Amino acid sequence: MKTHLFTTEDADIRRAAEIIKNGGLVAFPTETVYGLGADAFSPYSAKKAYSAKGRPSDNPLIVHISKTEDLYRAAETVPDEALKLAEAFWPGPLTIVLKKRPEMPKETTGGLDTVALRMPDSEATLKLIEYSGTLISGPSANISGRPSPTCWQHVQADLDGKIDGIICGLPCKGGIESTVLDLTDPEAPMILRPGLITPEMAAAVLKTEVSYDPALFDKPSEDPNFRPKAPGQKYKHYSPKAEMVIYEGVSEDVFRAIDARLAEEKEKGRKAAVIDVPDPKSFFAKLRAFDELGADVILAAAPDSGVPADSSVAGPDGKTIDPSIYFSLMNRMLKAAGYNIIKVPGADAQKVLSGKNRTGRQTMKIAMACDHAGFDLKQAVAEHLAGRGIEVEDLGTYTPERVDYPIYGKKCAEYVAEGHADLGIVCCGTGIGIGMAANKVKGIRCAELVTPFMAEMAKKHNHANMISLGGRVLSNEEAIKLVDIWLDSEEEHGNHDRRVALLNEM
Ligand code: TXA
Ligand code: MG
Repeated sequence: MKTHLFTTEDADIRRAAEIIKNGGLVAFPTETVYGLGADAFSPYSAKKAYSAKGRPSDNPLIVHISKTEDLYRAAETVPDEALKLAEAFWPGPLTIVLKKRPEMPKETTGGLDTVALRMPDSEATLKLIEYSGTLISGPSANISGRPSPTCWQHVQADLDGKIDGIICGLPCKGGIESTVLDLTDPEAPMILRPGLITPEMAAAVLKTEVSYDPALFDKPSEDPNFRPKAPGQKYKHYSPKAEMVIYEGVSEDVFRAIDARLAEEKEKGRKAAVIDVPDPKSFFAKLRAFDELGADVILAAAPDSGVPADSSVAGPDGKTIDPSIYFSLMNRMLKAAGYNIIKVPGADAQKVLSGKNRTGRQTMKIAMACDHAGFDLKQAVAEHLAGRGIEVEDLGTYTPERVDYPIYGKKCAEYVAEGHADLGIVCCGTGIGIGMAANKVKGIRCAELVTPFMAEMAKKHNHANMISLGGRVLSNEEAIKLVDIWLDSEEEHGNHDRRVALLNEM
Protein backbone atom coordinates (compact mmCIF):
# COMPACT_ATOMS: atom_id res chain seq x y z
CA MET A 1 0.00 0.00 0.00
CA LYS A 2 1.27 3.45 -0.84
CA THR A 3 0.94 5.87 2.07
CA HIS A 4 -0.12 9.22 0.70
CA LEU A 5 1.25 12.41 2.30
CA PHE A 6 -1.44 15.10 2.56
CA THR A 7 -0.96 18.78 3.27
CA THR A 8 -3.36 20.69 5.55
CA GLU A 9 -4.90 22.45 2.51
CA ASP A 10 -8.65 22.15 2.36
CA ALA A 11 -8.68 20.04 -0.82
CA ASP A 12 -6.23 17.54 0.69
CA ILE A 13 -8.26 17.24 3.89
CA ARG A 14 -11.37 16.52 1.84
CA ARG A 15 -9.54 13.70 0.04
CA ALA A 16 -8.34 12.32 3.38
CA ALA A 17 -11.90 12.50 4.77
CA GLU A 18 -13.14 10.53 1.77
CA ILE A 19 -10.63 7.76 2.57
CA ILE A 20 -11.86 7.56 6.18
CA LYS A 21 -15.48 7.43 4.97
CA ASN A 22 -14.56 4.51 2.72
CA GLY A 23 -13.03 2.51 5.55
CA GLY A 24 -9.39 3.59 5.14
CA LEU A 25 -6.82 4.77 7.67
CA VAL A 26 -5.37 8.30 7.73
CA ALA A 27 -3.05 9.63 10.45
CA PHE A 28 -3.83 13.12 11.72
CA PRO A 29 -2.13 15.81 13.81
CA THR A 30 -3.32 16.84 17.27
CA GLU A 31 -1.86 18.98 20.05
CA THR A 32 -0.81 15.86 21.99
CA VAL A 33 0.49 13.19 19.60
CA TYR A 34 -0.43 12.12 16.05
CA GLY A 35 -3.47 9.84 15.85
CA LEU A 36 -4.30 6.98 13.50
CA GLY A 37 -7.74 7.89 12.15
CA ALA A 38 -10.48 5.43 11.25
CA ASP A 39 -14.28 5.59 11.04
CA ALA A 40 -15.32 5.11 14.68
CA PHE A 41 -18.67 3.56 13.71
CA SER A 42 -17.12 0.89 11.52
CA PRO A 43 -15.99 -2.36 13.20
CA TYR A 44 -14.06 -3.17 10.04
CA SER A 45 -12.06 0.10 10.23
CA ALA A 46 -11.33 -0.43 13.92
CA LYS A 47 -9.90 -3.89 13.17
CA LYS A 48 -7.72 -2.43 10.44
CA ALA A 49 -6.36 0.19 12.85
CA TYR A 50 -5.52 -2.44 15.48
CA SER A 51 -3.75 -4.53 12.93
CA ALA A 52 -1.74 -1.63 11.41
CA LYS A 53 -0.52 -0.69 14.88
CA GLY A 54 -0.05 -4.27 16.05
CA ARG A 55 -2.17 -3.39 19.06
CA PRO A 56 -4.05 -5.81 21.32
CA SER A 57 -7.74 -5.42 20.52
CA ASP A 58 -8.85 -5.24 24.16
CA ASN A 59 -7.25 -1.79 24.36
CA PRO A 60 -10.01 0.67 23.42
CA LEU A 61 -9.61 3.58 21.01
CA ILE A 62 -10.32 7.25 21.68
CA VAL A 63 -13.08 8.70 19.52
CA HIS A 64 -12.38 12.20 18.19
CA ILE A 65 -15.18 14.69 17.67
CA SER A 66 -15.27 18.13 16.05
CA LYS A 67 -18.03 19.80 18.07
CA THR A 68 -19.56 19.32 21.50
CA GLU A 69 -22.90 18.13 20.04
CA ASP A 70 -21.04 15.11 18.61
CA LEU A 71 -20.95 13.80 22.17
CA TYR A 72 -24.59 12.77 21.76
CA ARG A 73 -23.75 10.66 18.69
CA ALA A 74 -21.42 8.46 20.73
CA ALA A 75 -22.52 8.67 24.37
CA GLU A 76 -25.76 7.34 25.84
CA THR A 77 -25.89 10.06 28.48
CA VAL A 78 -23.96 13.31 28.61
CA PRO A 79 -23.82 14.64 32.16
CA ASP A 80 -23.53 18.38 32.85
CA GLU A 81 -20.07 17.71 34.22
CA ALA A 82 -18.94 16.58 30.76
CA LEU A 83 -20.33 19.76 29.21
CA LYS A 84 -18.55 21.92 31.77
CA LEU A 85 -15.24 20.20 31.08
CA ALA A 86 -15.82 20.46 27.33
CA GLU A 87 -16.46 24.17 27.69
CA ALA A 88 -13.31 24.66 29.77
CA PHE A 89 -10.81 22.44 27.97
CA TRP A 90 -11.96 21.65 24.41
CA PRO A 91 -10.50 21.67 21.94
CA GLY A 92 -7.66 20.38 24.09
CA PRO A 93 -5.83 17.46 25.69
CA LEU A 94 -8.69 15.99 27.71
CA THR A 95 -10.51 12.72 26.95
CA ILE A 96 -13.80 12.01 28.70
CA VAL A 97 -15.10 8.46 29.25
CA LEU A 98 -18.90 8.09 29.18
CA LYS A 99 -21.45 5.30 28.74
CA LYS A 100 -21.59 4.44 25.05
CA ARG A 101 -24.57 4.38 22.68
CA PRO A 102 -25.40 0.99 21.19
CA GLU A 103 -24.36 2.25 17.73
CA MET A 104 -20.78 2.65 18.89
CA PRO A 105 -19.22 -0.72 18.02
CA LYS A 106 -17.43 -2.79 20.65
CA GLU A 107 -14.53 -3.14 18.23
CA THR A 108 -13.86 0.58 18.75
CA THR A 109 -14.34 0.48 22.52
CA GLY A 110 -12.29 -2.67 23.11
CA GLY A 111 -15.37 -4.57 24.25
CA LEU A 112 -16.29 -2.00 26.91
CA ASP A 113 -19.72 -0.41 27.47
CA THR A 114 -18.06 2.98 27.65
CA VAL A 115 -16.54 5.27 25.05
CA ALA A 116 -13.64 7.72 25.37
CA LEU A 117 -14.20 11.06 23.63
CA ARG A 118 -12.11 14.06 22.88
CA MET A 119 -12.00 17.16 20.67
CA PRO A 120 -8.41 17.68 19.54
CA ASP A 121 -6.89 21.13 19.18
CA SER A 122 -5.93 21.02 15.50
CA GLU A 123 -7.80 22.94 12.86
CA ALA A 124 -6.89 20.42 10.15
CA THR A 125 -8.13 17.49 12.20
CA LEU A 126 -11.37 19.18 13.25
CA LYS A 127 -12.06 19.71 9.53
CA LEU A 128 -11.14 16.10 8.77
CA ILE A 129 -13.76 14.91 11.26
CA GLU A 130 -16.37 17.29 9.96
CA TYR A 131 -15.78 16.47 6.28
CA SER A 132 -15.82 12.74 6.99
CA GLY A 133 -19.37 13.02 8.33
CA THR A 134 -18.52 10.43 10.96
CA LEU A 135 -16.51 10.39 14.20
CA ILE A 136 -12.89 9.31 14.02
CA SER A 137 -11.24 6.82 16.31
CA GLY A 138 -7.61 7.61 16.84
CA PRO A 139 -5.05 5.70 18.84
CA SER A 140 -1.59 7.19 18.75
CA ALA A 141 -0.18 6.62 15.25
CA ASN A 142 2.79 4.51 16.24
CA ILE A 143 3.57 0.81 16.15
CA SER A 144 2.25 -0.47 19.48
CA GLY A 145 5.01 -0.30 22.08
CA ARG A 146 7.08 2.34 20.26
CA PRO A 147 7.32 5.94 21.52
CA SER A 148 4.25 7.99 20.58
CA PRO A 149 4.66 10.10 17.41
CA THR A 150 4.90 13.85 17.91
CA CYS A 151 5.45 14.84 14.27
CA TRP A 152 4.34 13.36 10.94
CA GLN A 153 7.82 12.02 10.20
CA HIS A 154 7.51 9.74 13.26
CA VAL A 155 4.26 8.37 11.85
CA GLN A 156 5.90 7.78 8.49
CA ALA A 157 8.81 5.98 10.15
CA ASP A 158 6.42 3.52 11.86
CA LEU A 159 3.47 3.13 9.50
CA ASP A 160 4.64 3.86 5.95
CA GLY A 161 3.10 1.28 3.63
CA LYS A 162 0.61 0.15 6.29
CA ILE A 163 -1.91 3.00 6.16
CA ASP A 164 -3.57 5.04 3.41
CA GLY A 165 -2.32 8.46 4.30
CA ILE A 166 -0.81 10.96 6.73
CA ILE A 167 -1.91 14.57 7.13
CA CYS A 168 1.39 16.39 7.51
CA GLY A 169 0.51 19.09 10.01
CA LEU A 170 2.58 20.81 12.67
CA PRO A 171 4.64 19.00 15.27
CA CYS A 172 2.57 18.42 18.43
CA LYS A 173 2.90 21.14 21.04
CA GLY A 174 1.83 19.05 24.03
CA GLY A 175 4.02 16.02 23.53
CA ILE A 176 2.22 13.48 25.72
CA GLU A 177 -1.20 11.94 25.17
CA SER A 178 -4.39 13.43 26.53
CA THR A 179 -5.59 13.05 30.10
CA VAL A 180 -8.23 10.31 30.21
CA LEU A 181 -10.95 11.18 32.72
CA ASP A 182 -13.69 8.70 33.65
CA LEU A 183 -17.04 10.46 34.09
CA THR A 184 -19.25 7.37 34.06
CA ASP A 185 -19.97 8.28 37.68
CA PRO A 186 -20.14 12.08 37.34
CA GLU A 187 -19.94 12.47 41.11
CA ALA A 188 -16.64 10.63 41.31
CA PRO A 189 -14.51 11.78 38.40
CA MET A 190 -11.34 9.74 38.09
CA ILE A 191 -8.20 10.17 36.01
CA LEU A 192 -7.34 6.92 34.25
CA ARG A 193 -4.34 8.25 32.32
CA PRO A 194 -2.53 11.36 33.56
CA GLY A 195 -1.75 14.12 31.07
CA LEU A 196 -1.47 17.86 30.72
CA ILE A 197 -4.94 18.54 32.13
CA THR A 198 -4.28 17.90 35.83
CA PRO A 199 -6.74 16.74 38.50
CA GLU A 200 -6.46 20.20 40.05
CA MET A 201 -7.48 21.85 36.77
CA ALA A 202 -10.48 19.53 36.35
CA ALA A 203 -11.43 19.90 40.02
CA ALA A 204 -11.46 23.69 39.70
CA VAL A 205 -14.06 23.42 36.92
CA LEU A 206 -16.15 20.64 38.49
CA LYS A 207 -15.90 22.03 42.03
CA THR A 208 -15.40 18.51 43.29
CA GLU A 209 -12.42 16.32 44.00
CA VAL A 210 -10.89 14.51 41.05
CA SER A 211 -8.98 11.37 41.97
CA TYR A 212 -6.39 9.24 40.21
CA ASP A 213 -7.08 5.59 39.43
CA PRO A 214 -5.11 3.93 42.26
CA ALA A 215 -3.64 1.50 39.70
CA LEU A 216 -1.58 4.42 38.33
CA PHE A 217 0.68 4.16 41.35
CA ASP A 218 1.49 0.51 40.74
CA LYS A 219 3.94 -1.07 38.42
CA PRO A 220 2.02 -2.99 35.72
CA SER A 221 2.07 -6.69 36.52
CA GLU A 222 0.65 -10.06 35.51
CA ASP A 223 -1.18 -10.14 38.85
CA PRO A 224 -4.91 -10.52 38.11
CA ASN A 225 -5.56 -7.93 40.84
CA PHE A 226 -3.78 -5.34 38.72
CA ARG A 227 -6.71 -3.92 36.78
CA PRO A 228 -6.23 -0.34 35.65
CA LYS A 229 -9.49 1.17 34.43
CA ALA A 230 -7.82 2.36 31.21
CA PRO A 231 -6.77 -0.95 29.68
CA GLY A 232 -3.88 0.79 27.89
CA GLN A 233 -2.16 1.39 31.24
CA LYS A 234 -1.58 -2.37 31.52
CA TYR A 235 1.07 -2.43 28.88
CA LYS A 236 4.71 -1.51 28.76
CA HIS A 237 4.70 1.32 26.28
CA TYR A 238 6.75 3.76 24.38
CA SER A 239 9.91 1.72 24.57
CA PRO A 240 12.99 3.03 22.86
CA LYS A 241 15.30 0.42 21.36
CA ALA A 242 17.98 1.45 23.84
CA GLU A 243 17.93 0.36 27.45
CA MET A 244 16.59 3.25 29.53
CA VAL A 245 17.39 4.01 33.16
CA ILE A 246 15.77 6.70 35.30
CA TYR A 247 17.79 8.30 38.06
CA GLU A 248 15.64 9.76 40.81
CA GLY A 249 16.77 11.92 43.70
CA VAL A 250 17.98 15.42 44.43
CA SER A 251 19.17 16.97 41.19
CA GLU A 252 22.87 17.49 42.05
CA ASP A 253 23.15 13.89 43.23
CA VAL A 254 21.28 12.64 40.18
CA PHE A 255 23.63 14.44 37.82
CA ARG A 256 26.65 13.14 39.72
CA ALA A 257 25.34 9.58 39.38
CA ILE A 258 24.65 10.05 35.67
CA ASP A 259 28.13 11.46 35.09
CA ALA A 260 29.65 8.43 36.77
CA ARG A 261 27.52 6.06 34.69
CA LEU A 262 28.43 7.94 31.48
CA ALA A 263 32.10 7.39 32.20
CA GLU A 264 31.46 3.68 32.82
CA GLU A 265 29.50 3.26 29.61
CA LYS A 266 32.21 5.03 27.63
CA GLU A 267 34.80 2.72 29.08
CA LYS A 268 32.75 -0.24 27.87
CA GLY A 269 32.53 1.31 24.41
CA ARG A 270 28.77 1.78 24.65
CA LYS A 271 26.88 4.81 23.37
CA ALA A 272 25.00 6.59 26.15
CA ALA A 273 22.49 9.43 25.76
CA VAL A 274 21.24 11.69 28.53
CA ILE A 275 17.87 13.32 29.17
CA ASP A 276 18.71 15.97 31.71
CA VAL A 277 15.57 18.12 31.85
CA PRO A 278 12.22 16.37 32.21
CA ASP A 279 10.03 17.99 29.57
CA PRO A 280 6.76 16.48 28.33
CA LYS A 281 7.00 18.33 25.03
CA SER A 282 10.19 16.70 23.82
CA PHE A 283 10.24 13.41 25.69
CA PHE A 284 8.98 11.01 22.99
CA ALA A 285 10.87 12.85 20.26
CA LYS A 286 14.10 12.44 22.22
CA LEU A 287 13.56 8.69 22.60
CA ARG A 288 13.19 8.37 18.84
CA ALA A 289 16.16 10.61 18.12
CA PHE A 290 18.40 8.57 20.44
CA ASP A 291 17.28 5.36 18.72
CA GLU A 292 18.26 6.85 15.39
CA LEU A 293 21.66 7.80 16.74
CA GLY A 294 22.12 4.20 17.81
CA ALA A 295 22.25 4.81 21.55
CA ASP A 296 22.76 1.68 23.65
CA VAL A 297 21.52 3.24 26.84
CA ILE A 298 19.47 6.33 27.76
CA LEU A 299 20.13 7.85 31.19
CA ALA A 300 17.22 10.04 32.24
CA ALA A 301 17.24 12.42 35.18
CA ALA A 302 14.02 12.54 37.19
CA PRO A 303 14.91 14.68 40.13
CA ASP A 304 12.58 14.65 43.07
CA SER A 305 10.30 17.59 42.33
CA GLY A 306 10.73 20.78 44.26
CA VAL A 307 14.33 20.17 45.29
CA PRO A 308 15.64 22.86 44.90
CA ALA A 309 13.16 24.96 42.98
CA ASP A 310 15.68 26.37 40.53
CA SER A 311 17.21 23.16 39.28
CA SER A 312 15.17 20.08 39.97
CA VAL A 313 12.01 19.94 37.94
CA ALA A 314 12.80 23.05 36.04
CA GLY A 315 11.01 23.08 32.71
CA PRO A 316 12.71 24.10 29.49
CA ASP A 317 12.45 27.77 30.34
CA GLY A 318 13.75 27.36 33.85
CA LYS A 319 10.32 27.46 35.51
CA THR A 320 9.37 24.66 37.84
CA ILE A 321 6.91 22.11 36.53
CA ASP A 322 3.57 21.63 38.27
CA PRO A 323 3.93 18.44 40.36
CA SER A 324 0.88 16.89 38.68
CA ILE A 325 2.36 17.44 35.22
CA TYR A 326 5.57 15.96 36.51
CA PHE A 327 3.55 12.93 37.61
CA SER A 328 2.09 12.61 34.09
CA LEU A 329 5.54 12.75 32.54
CA MET A 330 6.91 10.23 35.05
CA ASN A 331 4.05 7.88 34.08
CA ARG A 332 5.44 7.88 30.50
CA MET A 333 9.08 7.79 31.59
CA LEU A 334 8.53 4.78 33.85
CA LYS A 335 6.82 2.87 31.06
CA ALA A 336 9.53 3.80 28.56
CA ALA A 337 12.16 2.57 30.99
CA GLY A 338 10.23 -0.58 31.86
CA TYR A 339 10.25 0.69 35.48
CA ASN A 340 14.03 0.58 35.52
CA ILE A 341 14.61 3.25 38.14
CA ILE A 342 17.59 3.95 40.36
CA LYS A 343 16.92 5.95 43.51
CA VAL A 344 20.05 7.98 44.06
CA PRO A 345 20.91 8.35 47.73
CA GLY A 346 21.69 12.03 48.24
CA ALA A 347 24.96 13.14 49.78
CA ASP A 348 22.90 15.16 52.25
CA ALA A 349 20.60 12.28 53.07
CA GLN A 350 23.62 10.16 53.90
CA LYS A 351 24.95 12.85 56.22
CA VAL A 352 21.60 13.00 58.00
CA LEU A 353 21.54 9.25 58.41
CA SER A 354 25.02 9.04 59.82
CA GLY A 355 24.51 12.11 61.96
CA LYS A 356 27.92 13.47 61.04
CA ASN A 357 28.98 16.73 59.59
CA ARG A 358 27.50 19.12 62.15
CA THR A 359 29.19 22.27 61.10
CA GLY A 360 28.74 25.76 62.40
CA ARG A 361 27.03 28.09 59.97
CA GLN A 362 27.46 31.76 59.34
CA THR A 363 23.89 32.44 58.33
CA MET A 364 20.62 30.95 59.45
CA LYS A 365 19.55 27.84 57.54
CA ILE A 366 15.97 26.58 57.40
CA ALA A 367 15.03 23.16 56.09
CA MET A 368 11.74 22.84 54.25
CA ALA A 369 9.60 20.02 52.92
CA CYS A 370 6.02 19.55 51.86
CA ASP A 371 3.59 17.19 50.29
CA HIS A 372 1.74 17.75 47.07
CA ALA A 373 -0.95 19.95 48.64
CA GLY A 374 1.65 22.12 50.35
CA PHE A 375 3.81 22.60 47.27
CA ASP A 376 2.71 26.09 46.22
CA LEU A 377 2.86 27.40 49.77
CA LYS A 378 6.32 25.98 50.30
CA GLN A 379 7.58 27.66 47.12
CA ALA A 380 6.18 31.01 48.26
CA VAL A 381 7.63 30.74 51.78
CA ALA A 382 11.02 29.59 50.43
CA GLU A 383 11.15 32.57 48.13
CA HIS A 384 10.32 34.89 51.00
CA LEU A 385 13.01 33.37 53.23
CA ALA A 386 15.59 33.69 50.49
CA GLY A 387 14.60 37.34 50.25
CA ARG A 388 15.38 37.67 53.97
CA GLY A 389 18.87 36.30 53.34
CA ILE A 390 18.09 32.97 55.00
CA GLU A 391 19.57 29.84 53.47
CA VAL A 392 16.83 27.38 52.55
CA GLU A 393 17.40 23.65 52.17
CA ASP A 394 14.51 22.13 50.24
CA LEU A 395 14.16 18.47 51.10
CA GLY A 396 11.45 17.63 48.62
CA THR A 397 7.83 17.31 48.04
CA TYR A 398 6.72 14.33 46.16
CA THR A 399 6.56 10.60 45.86
CA PRO A 400 4.40 8.78 43.35
CA GLU A 401 2.16 7.55 46.17
CA ARG A 402 1.09 11.15 46.82
CA VAL A 403 0.47 10.37 50.47
CA ASP A 404 3.87 11.69 51.18
CA TYR A 405 3.46 13.97 54.17
CA PRO A 406 4.78 11.39 56.67
CA ILE A 407 7.92 10.85 54.58
CA TYR A 408 8.69 14.53 54.14
CA GLY A 409 7.66 15.58 57.65
CA LYS A 410 10.07 13.02 59.07
CA LYS A 411 12.83 13.79 56.58
CA CYS A 412 12.76 17.49 57.45
CA ALA A 413 12.53 16.81 61.18
CA GLU A 414 15.53 14.48 61.10
CA TYR A 415 17.48 17.04 59.19
CA VAL A 416 16.79 19.66 61.88
CA ALA A 417 17.28 17.23 64.76
CA GLU A 418 20.67 16.23 63.35
CA GLY A 419 21.71 19.87 63.33
CA HIS A 420 21.98 20.32 59.57
CA ALA A 421 19.57 23.23 59.74
CA ASP A 422 18.63 25.66 62.50
CA LEU A 423 14.90 25.39 62.00
CA GLY A 424 12.37 23.56 59.85
CA ILE A 425 9.18 24.49 58.03
CA VAL A 426 6.82 21.89 56.60
CA CYS A 427 3.66 22.38 54.55
CA CYS A 428 0.77 20.12 53.62
CA GLY A 429 -2.91 20.68 52.88
CA THR A 430 -3.91 21.38 56.48
CA GLY A 431 -0.49 21.46 58.12
CA ILE A 432 -1.71 18.73 60.45
CA GLY A 433 -0.35 15.48 59.04
CA ILE A 434 3.10 16.66 58.15
CA GLY A 435 3.44 18.31 61.59
CA MET A 436 2.42 15.06 63.26
CA ALA A 437 5.14 13.25 61.36
CA ALA A 438 7.74 15.85 62.36
CA ASN A 439 6.84 15.53 66.04
CA LYS A 440 7.70 11.83 65.96
CA VAL A 441 11.37 12.75 65.75
CA LYS A 442 13.11 13.21 69.09
CA GLY A 443 14.20 16.76 69.76
CA ILE A 444 11.63 18.25 67.41
CA ARG A 445 9.00 20.64 68.65
CA CYS A 446 6.82 21.32 65.65
CA ALA A 447 3.89 23.72 66.08
CA GLU A 448 1.15 24.33 63.60
CA LEU A 449 0.67 28.04 63.00
CA VAL A 450 -2.74 29.41 62.18
CA THR A 451 -2.93 32.77 63.95
CA PRO A 452 -0.35 35.48 64.72
CA PHE A 453 -0.76 34.75 68.44
CA MET A 454 0.12 31.10 67.91
CA ALA A 455 3.13 32.12 65.83
CA GLU A 456 4.46 34.31 68.63
CA MET A 457 3.78 31.86 71.45
CA ALA A 458 5.16 28.86 69.59
CA LYS A 459 8.53 30.53 69.81
CA LYS A 460 8.19 32.32 73.15
CA HIS A 461 6.82 29.49 75.26
CA ASN A 462 7.31 26.27 73.28
CA HIS A 463 10.67 27.06 71.64
CA ALA A 464 9.26 25.50 68.47
CA ASN A 465 12.17 24.54 66.26
CA MET A 466 9.78 23.60 63.46
CA ILE A 467 6.46 24.86 62.25
CA SER A 468 3.82 23.36 60.00
CA LEU A 469 1.56 25.32 57.68
CA GLY A 470 -1.59 24.41 55.77
CA GLY A 471 -1.70 25.27 52.09
CA ARG A 472 -5.48 24.93 52.14
CA VAL A 473 -5.81 26.85 55.41
CA LEU A 474 -3.68 29.92 54.83
CA SER A 475 -3.05 32.17 51.88
CA ASN A 476 0.61 32.58 50.96
CA GLU A 477 0.57 36.09 52.42
CA GLU A 478 -0.95 34.97 55.72
CA ALA A 479 1.53 32.15 56.01
CA ILE A 480 4.51 34.40 55.30
CA LYS A 481 3.31 36.81 57.98
CA LEU A 482 3.14 33.96 60.51
CA VAL A 483 6.59 32.75 59.53
CA ASP A 484 7.99 36.24 60.11
CA ILE A 485 6.35 36.56 63.52
CA TRP A 486 7.69 33.16 64.56
CA LEU A 487 11.19 33.95 63.31
CA ASP A 488 11.28 37.38 64.89
CA SER A 489 9.92 36.37 68.31
CA GLU A 490 12.38 35.51 71.10
CA GLU A 491 12.32 32.43 73.28
CA GLU A 492 11.26 33.20 76.83
CA HIS A 493 13.26 31.13 79.23
CA GLY A 494 12.64 30.76 82.99
CA ASN A 495 9.77 28.35 83.63
CA HIS A 496 9.43 27.55 79.98
CA ASP A 497 12.89 25.98 79.86
CA ARG A 498 11.81 23.33 82.32
CA ARG A 499 8.68 22.47 80.32
CA VAL A 500 10.62 22.35 77.07
CA ALA A 501 13.19 20.10 78.74
CA LEU A 502 10.36 17.78 79.82
CA LEU A 503 9.04 17.76 76.27
CA ASN A 504 12.46 16.90 74.94
CA GLU A 505 12.73 13.91 77.22
CA MET A 506 9.53 12.36 75.86
O1 TXA B 1 -3.82 12.36 23.07
C1 TXA B 1 -4.44 11.33 22.80
O2 TXA B 1 -5.35 10.90 23.51
C2 TXA B 1 -4.05 10.58 21.51
C3 TXA B 1 -4.41 11.46 20.32
C4 TXA B 1 -4.19 10.79 19.02
O3 TXA B 1 -5.72 11.95 20.47
N1 TXA B 1 -4.68 9.30 21.44
C5 TXA B 1 -4.28 8.27 22.23
O4 TXA B 1 -4.94 7.11 22.00
O5 TXA B 1 -3.41 8.35 23.05
P1 TXA B 1 -4.45 5.68 22.50
O6 TXA B 1 -5.38 4.73 21.86
O7 TXA B 1 -3.02 5.50 22.25
O8 TXA B 1 -4.76 5.67 24.03
C6 TXA B 1 -6.08 5.55 24.50
C7 TXA B 1 -6.09 5.35 25.99
C8 TXA B 1 -5.70 3.95 26.35
O9 TXA B 1 -4.95 3.95 27.55
C9 TXA B 1 -7.06 3.31 26.55
O10 TXA B 1 -6.98 2.21 27.40
C10 TXA B 1 -7.86 4.44 27.14
O11 TXA B 1 -7.39 5.58 26.47
N2 TXA B 1 -9.29 4.29 26.84
C11 TXA B 1 -9.91 4.39 25.65
N3 TXA B 1 -11.22 4.13 25.76
C12 TXA B 1 -11.45 3.89 27.07
C13 TXA B 1 -12.62 3.55 27.82
N4 TXA B 1 -13.81 3.42 27.25
N5 TXA B 1 -12.47 3.34 29.15
C14 TXA B 1 -11.26 3.47 29.74
N6 TXA B 1 -10.13 3.78 29.06
C15 TXA B 1 -10.22 3.99 27.75
MG1 MG C 1 -0.80 5.11 22.49
